[in-house]
Amino acid sequence: TRVEFLDYEAVVDYGWSLDDDDLFRKAAHADLDPDSHGRLLVHPDESLLEAAERSGFGWPFSCRGGACANCAVYLADGKLSQPTDHIMPEDLAERGFRLSCNGYPLSDELSVVFNVKQRPELDDLIL
Ligand code: FES
Repeated sequence: TRVEFLDYEAVVDYGWSLDDDDLFRKAAHADLDPDSHGRLLVHPDESLLEAAERSGFGWPFSCRGGACANCAVYLADGKLSQPTDHIMPEDLAERGFRLSCNGYPLSDELSVVFNVKQRPELDDLIL
């Protein structure tokens, strides 16, 4: 699975919005650091977080077990699995929030904004 990623910090810095259809196009034109915007590959049986780490990126995490939301990402495009045993509430999952530590790609392409743990709606979940 090919993943295009974007750091939520850049979304904030540039005043962009998560639900902007042009978000990744804007990111591509913003000349961001390779850590902030780029692509990586997720191998079979690898979680999104594991793939980011193998690729040399330091995405946030803590428990690695679906219990803290530090690893939360926003799924702008594609499908990422959401195991039943996790902390993410249904309404946030419906809006595209996922956990990268136990999220496994279910589509050939994904677009994700990582580092969304600072979003106010995730405040209560961060341990
Ligand atoms: Fe805690 Fe993913 S690292 S839920």
